[in-house]
Amino acid sequence: MVVANRLPVDRVENPDGTVTWRTSPGGLVTALEPVMHSHDGAWVGWHGAPDEVLDPFENDGLELVPVPLSAQEIEDYYEGFSNATLWPLYHDVVAPPEFRREWWDAYVRVNQRFADRTADVADQGAVVWVQDYQLQLVPQMLRELRPDLNIGFFLHIPFPPTELYIQLPWRDQILRGLLGADLVGFQLGGGAQNFLRLVRQRLHLETRREHVHAADGRTVMARAYPISIAAASLHELASSDATAARAAEIRADLGEPKTLFLGVDRLDYTKGIPERIQAFGELVAEGRIDPDEAALVQVATPSRERVEQYRHLRDDIDRQVGRINSDVGRIGRPPITYLHASYPREEMAALYRAADVMIVTPLRDGMNLVAKEYVACRQADDGALVLSEFAGAARELRQAYLINPHDIDGLKETMLEAMNAPARIKSRRMRLLRRQVFEHDIEHWARAFLDDLNRVVQGKVEWPSRPVVGSGGGGGDQGELHGPAPSRHEHGSGQD
Ligand code: ADP
Ligand code: F6P
Repeated sequence: MVVANRLPVDRVENPDGTVTWRTSPGGLVTALEPVMHSHDGAWVGWHGAPDEVLDPFENDGLELVPVPLSAQEIEDYYEGFSNATLWPLYHDVVAPPEFRREWWDAYVRVNQRFADRTADVADQGAVVWVQDYQLQLVPQMLRELRPDLNIGFFLHIPFPPTELYIQLPWRDQILRGLLGADLVGFQLGGGAQNFLRLVRQRLHLETRREHVHAADGRTVMARAYPISIAAASLHELASSDATAARAAEIRADLGEPKTLFLGVDRLDYTKGIPERIQAFGELVAEGRIDPDEAALVQVATPSRERVEQYRHLRDDIDRQVGRINSDVGRIGRPPITYLHASYPREEMAALYRAADVMIVTPLRDGMNLVAKEYVACRQADDGALVLSEFAGAARELRQAYLINPHDIDGLKETMLEAMNAPARIKSRRMRLLRRQVFEHDIEHWARAFLDDLNRVVQGKVEWPSRPVVGSGGGGGDQGELHGPAPSRHEHGSGQD
């Protein structure tokens, strides 16, 4: 059973009163939907609309258990504590987090509702997999209600360094909430290390390597599992004749550019969208990119539109694109095509297939599945991926053109390098990227996590005999990390 803030589909009421279901935005649903299709289980979550109590129902072969949220709870728990406190705090405070006590109260209340609903419907001894930052208290609440359950937790976003995390007034409650799980999964080894370190410092619990000796005597494991995509099925979709025709049509509509740059994101201030638009605009203005030969398509799914920072971002990008297109565009040939909309999978596959250079520039991102989707959609070892060092995906996709999105000049140079690189260089890079993505797909991720969860609950993980770090200690130690040994799931140096 999966428990996530959102169900995989949102309930949308049309102007004529009819109701339709639309795929929910974001990487969590992209990743977990195929997992749930291949494992028989239910999905507990919110259906995206306020003040509606719905019965469990089936959609596209999945059993969905809706959890209601009132309009006030959406404001306080979802837009407030989840997306204006935790989201910026966990993403390196790229925006200032707000700390409000009434938001926290709503977070506790809603987490309890998710736990209660899950406890009602879970079979005896079921595996319950709780997802992401919106539900960090659920593991402990669920364990209190149903000690028979096997509980996993996976955080899709970065887990922050201790010096940022400790700003949170409710820091200890959240650590205790997470420790209700048997296995706590992170995108990168650095996130797991940050968590283990906080558990030692704040809760004075003993940790050894990836293990925590919890207050109730259980052993909890914390480890990295870099999430991925259903690479083979996306590749199949991208390879179809219909997708090929649509990709050709997109290029024709853009005036057959020699180089098509593409950006695809939720419209989020962590994604570095203004940085990449600025870099492209400057390259065109400086005459280093000829707008007759190159175009940028930026697709941005509407996201969290009532949160202030998201509204500002939308206005800023509208203005920025308008300015560049009016400065350097000509009739029928704006250098930037900006689409503020969500598209079906087929259209996304066609866009990826059409693009010569994919630009992924987050200032901080737990993983970034868009980067992996682009790679999966290649038909041959062509195309180029420009990827931020601050995306979790950069740990695995080492052959991408890695950039620092804060360094606009560096980004510009790398965009040109990716555009002009000889085919044999691109091909060598893309071959390795494709191998990485296909060998580490979403099934690989789910199997690694669920196998480990099974081992923990069966008592098959051994408490390491020799401590790597001292236990307890009470805080203040902000120096060198002595974290868990790199796990077989880890890539790169493991810092988030
Ligand atoms: P996040 O989870 O922060 O949104 P990811 O890159 O991990 O970021 O996942 C984003 C997911 O949303 C991907 O599966 C991507 O294909 C999808 N997506 C992004 N933009 C759009 C769009 N405009 N229309 C449809 N799907 C989109
Ligand atoms: O992990 C990224 C994530 O925040 C998911 O938890 C979430 O479902 C998705 O992005 C989309 O965001 P939202 O649910 O706020 O629209």
